Amino acid sequence: MSELMTGSDLVVRDLEPADEAIVRELLLAVYPSDMEARLVHKLRHCGALVLEQVAVDENGAIVGHVAYSRVTNAAIGPGQAIQVACLSPVSVLPNVQRQGVGDRLIRSSLKSLSELEEDLVLVLGPPAYFPRFGFDPELAKKIHGPYAGGAFMALALTEAGTKNLPIEVAFATPFEEFE
Ligand SMILES: CC(C)(COP(=O)(O)OP(=O)(O)OC[C@H]1O[C@@H](n2cnc3c(N)ncnc32)[C@H](O)[C@@H]1OP(=O)(O)O)[C@@H](O)C(=O)NCCC(=O)NCCS
Repeated sequence: MSELMTGSDLVVRDLEPADEAIVRELLLAVYPSDMEARLVHKLRHCGALVLEQVAVDENGAIVGHVAYSRVTNAAIGPGQAIQVACLSPVSVLPNVQRQGVGDRLIRSSLKSLSELEEDLVLVLGPPAYFPRFGFDPELAKKIHGPYAGGAFMALALTEAGTKNLPIEVAFATPFEEFE
């Protein structure tokens, strides 16, 4: 996928193999344990990732990372054609958090995901943050699976993503550690 300029001094682009070690360091810096670093590693190596992108600053440093993985849609009937992805994790280096990096990374990667013809994106995250991108806990109530509650939100990227719900979903196996 081609690079996307999303701000004057920030580039959001697909992950390259050479970035993997740096992304691991970023994940270890952001989270209190290595669970997210292991999650990303496992998602990558079990072929579950639909899209993985990084935000790169003007000095070429990776300051943000986002992963989207395939969600299995187990609907039988009209909902079965809906393509579902899960946004998790999204991470910004602690020293540059709350400066708009997450915002640019998420908006740009959602555009890329839309170009990949995904219909629906699910997230489990802070309800104070994700609704600004259109994620909606009400829509997520129509997605039946292991997660529920206000932190579980859904965003439809196509009309199909709002139609023919409810559907039943299962997340990639590496998420089982988080259930
Ligand atoms: C959540 C995260 C990706 C947001 O990226 P960011 O670059 O720091 O955020 P932005 O600068 O785009 O947005 C800042 C806004 O988000 C809000 N925000 C950021 N993190 C938040 C959180 N964990 N909960 C609620 N609101 C949050 C800020 O209050 C701020 O709000 P405002 O615009 O109304 O002032 C980043 O803070 C991060 O990596 N956090 C730790 C990991 C995490 O919690 N990931 C999300 C779950 S997978």
